[in-house]
Amino acid sequence: MHDRSKWVWTDEEIRRVGYRVVDMIADYVGGLPERPVFRPCPEDLIARFAERPLPESGQDTDSLLEEFVDDVLSHPFGNGHPRFFGWVNSPPAIIGVFAEMLAAAMNPSVAGGNHAAVYVEHQVVRWMKELIGFPAAGSMGLLVSGSSMASLTGLAVARHVKLPGVRQLGMQEVSQHAVAYVSAEGHSCLRKALELLGFGSDNIRQIPVDDRLRMRIDELDRVIQQDRQYGHLPVVVAASAGTAGTGAIDPLRGIRDICAHHGVWFHVDAAYGGPAILSDRYRDQLAALRDADSLALDLHKWMSVPVEAGLALVKDGAAMRDAFSLVPPYIRTEGNSAGVMGLPWFSEYGMQQTRGFRALKAWMCLKYFGRDGYREQIERDLTLAEQLAGRVRQSASLELALEPGLSIVCFRYAPPELKDDAVALNHVNQQLLETVQLGGTAFLTSTLINGAFWLRACIINHRTTAADIDLLVDHIVQIAHSLPTGT
Ligand SMILES: Cc1ncc(COP(=O)(O)O)c(C=O)c1O
Repeated sequence: MHDRSKWVWTDEEIRRVGYRVVDMIADYVGGLPERPVFRPCPEDLIARFAERPLPESGQDTDSLLEEFVDDVLSHPFGNGHPRFFGWVNSPPAIIGVFAEMLAAAMNPSVAGGNHAAVYVEHQVVRWMKELIGFPAAGSMGLLVSGSSMASLTGLAVARHVKLPGVRQLGMQEVSQHAVAYVSAEGHSCLRKALELLGFGSDNIRQIPVDDRLRMRIDELDRVIQQDRQYGHLPVVVAASAGTAGTGAIDPLRGIRDICAHHGVWFHVDAAYGGPAILSDRYRDQLAALRDADSLALDLHKWMSVPVEAGLALVKDGAAMRDAFSLVPPYIRTEGNSAGVMGLPWFSEYGMQQTRGFRALKAWMCLKYFGRDGYREQIERDLTLAEQLAGRVRQSASLELALEPGLSIVCFRYAPPELKDDAVALNHVNQQLLETVQLGGTAFLTSTLINGAFWLRACIINHRTTAADIDLLVDHIVQIAHSLPTGT
């Protein structure tokens, strides 16, 4: 007979392997600043991943961990290093790393039920509403993988509310040519979600942006009016509070008022910028987040909760339940805090049935940093972004694209002799970016602004220092001068 006991770990084995894993985490995190920020995976490793067959028999934990260190831990994405400025990826808060372990040890399904993980998630949602200023009464929220899913969730509620009968009849019957609006700079996940919801890409209007790359509300109003005249049905505006490209914040108050005027749902993608409401510099610009009908936020961006941790918030919690609820009778509950079933299940408010204990890492991070801790880090990152912009302005060979948007700085190498040659500028900056990315000293990415190629640094790492920013600038200038097309 099969010996089941060999798969059951003793307390001693758990401790022995666990302490080793903790040592590996400490060595990895502690050693990050001394390592290259990024190195591509070696080809022989990629080949091994592609070719190795499914293991027939099990492997001992020690060799498994050694293999992990050699083949996986040594080839990271790069975030976590103090000079990783790419995309919008923060390092994990270490308390969140341990929370992941603890959550996995408990391994509940947070679909619902009367167990602590459910109440932890409700508490996290309530705290996040408070942090944003989102109304608590009647609203609802839940943790999802990230803002792509959070926006899909919020936009699904928008569709349900604005197109009555859509659940029964489908878009083909009820849509009357339903239309949605995003800014030309809005994240692709907004369009993806709207396409999935059946709007069709032809019915997703891209509203032009102003010189700071923010949605133009005069254009939004004009396009909505025009759609009305043609007999179309404007359903939802998906605004951005911090675009991924430049950190632009759409004029939220103006968009809110236009939505209210036309009876259109007001959704905001606040994946990156939402937490900046804690800062003195952005509190006012972000105040209208509280007026959104639905909001997407990422705790795995500026709040350093390990991925994946997105949050969907919807002002009308009953509508959210209505949009998704399709539960077998054995898990339907009107909910109170007695018995097995507890409150209405999270799974009635979104797509997922079995749901992980994402809330624990968010809960521990919120408790560990507190509102003040987050405010301090965000203010610091904003100051570092100002410092970077200042260094760029002072440099004779660098050019700033526009004032920093949140903690994103877009700039390029533009020595006087290339200044009027758009093609050469694009070319030299592409080369520069690739050389810097592969060099290992710093890592940044790029964005297109009006068709031109710009370097882009996003600062959301509490380990980044003023010295790292200086080093980034000096390094870029030095590399630029060494390029064949440089001077
Ligand atoms: C502004 C913005 N919105 C939405 C998203 C998508 O969020 P996620 O990747 O968490 O699904 C991102 C991701 O980088 C983003 O930067």
